[in-house]
Amino acid sequence: MAWTKLAVLDELPPGSLMEVEIGEDLVAICNVEGEVRAIYGSCPHQGGPLGEGALNGEMVTCPWHMWEFHSGTGVCAMNPDLKIPTYPVRVENGEIQVELA
Ligand code: FES
Repeated sequence: MAWTKLAVLDELPPGSLMEVEIGEDLVAICNVEGEVRAIYGSCPHQGGPLGEGALNGEMVTCPWHMWEFHSGTGVCAMNPDLKIPTYPVRVENGEIQVELA
């Protein structure tokens, strides 16, 4: 598996959320108090762009119908049986890199 550069850390200050396109997939990356996390970027409800939503604490809110997902586990707040993929993240030389499965 390879690490893929998604952004530079300066673009993602603490408390912010960003959408990144990788091929045909979307990844949402966020900075939770200095810890960068990455989750699948398309909402399982109707495909809303999670990276264009809002970050509240550790929770990412979909901009379309406000479903919330935990940025660390991918678990949906309204339905604990629903979980979106999360990805390992590392920061190397100021670059945010994600290991996509
Ligand atoms: S598409 Fe995300 S909550 Fe509906």
